[in-house]
Amino acid sequence: MARILTGTQSSGKQHLGNILGAIKPAIEMSYKNNNESFLFIADLHSLTSIKDSKQLAENTLATASAWLAMGLNTEKTIFYRQSDVTEVCELAWILNCFTPIPMLENAHSFKDKQANLADVNAGLFTYPVLMAADILLYDADWVPVGKDQKQHLEMTRDIAGAFNHRFPNTFVLPEAKILENVMTIPGIDGRKMSKSYNNYIDVFLPEKELRKKVMSIVTGSQTLEEPKNPDTCTVFTLFSLLATETDIAQMRLHYLNGNYGFGTAKQELFELLWKQFASEREKYNYFFQNPTLVYAELSKGAEKARKVARPVLHRVRKQIGLGQF
Ligand code: TRP
Repeated sequence: MARILTGTQSSGKQHLGNILGAIKPAIEMSYKNNNESFLFIADLHSLTSIKDSKQLAENTLATASAWLAMGLNTEKTIFYRQSDVTEVCELAWILNCFTPIPMLENAHSFKDKQANLADVNAGLFTYPVLMAADILLYDADWVPVGKDQKQHLEMTRDIAGAFNHRFPNTFVLPEAKILENVMTIPGIDGRKMSKSYNNYIDVFLPEKELRKKVMSIVTGSQTLEEPKNPDTCTVFTLFSLLATETDIAQMRLHYLNGNYGFGTAKQELFELLWKQFASEREKYNYFFQNPTLVYAELSKGAEKARKVARPVLHRVRKQIGLGQF
């Protein structure tokens, strides 16, 4: 049995792109195999960029509510908040003392952030070390991540490898499981759906707002009568990610035949989103409005996670000569 672990940044709204690209596949995977899985909300990582206490807390709640609403089974997956297992900070400090500065200076993500952010703090710089601690603290075998996290995983392996060289058999060397074919979901302006572009569709919105969002999708300027190309249209692309084969084929024909307006296509997409996520929307609202329930789930998860983390940290402390042994 392998141990699979991954973290998700608590960047607030979990939109259609996150749901189709990350949440659904991860939940499906957790049902498919017999592996042991760990999933946590990386709120300490979010702290590198979010300094508003209300927003940080609300983002964690929204992220956890979305995962729970989408059907995450907390009996099968150890689901916790990173900051609830404070052992991770201790391990991160220890690893910091074994991480060469040039390795961190080479991180693409740091270079990007350094160029674009006003607040370039030390937490941003040591972000990969905390990430290594997230993984090594649980003896994880597999870490499923998007391509953008590949370098961070390589750094984790380098840090663990160098540590093991000095103190043999301390850490399990984790393997990255790069999710190559993660779908790129277009946002309402046609670019990749992303929070940072503010072009996302939040499927948990109330009816009126959801309709308004769908109606604001940018389309071509063909008249109602003209035939249209479904394959270059965001409305059709989103529809085809969710609808049945028959409905997709039918919408395709409508586009090709003409006499079918973008407004009608948007209405169909809206209805599909409204219906398809009806029960998840209800659950999401329920969780979001009952934070104590969500925190109780996360605390239970943290309790289980800590049972794994403690002996690993003990092993590390012993190896490096901290405490009395
Ligand atoms: N940095 C990851 C991201 O932005 C989130 C993350 C934090 C993570 N710690 C992790 C992912 C450990 C995998 C393993 O997506």
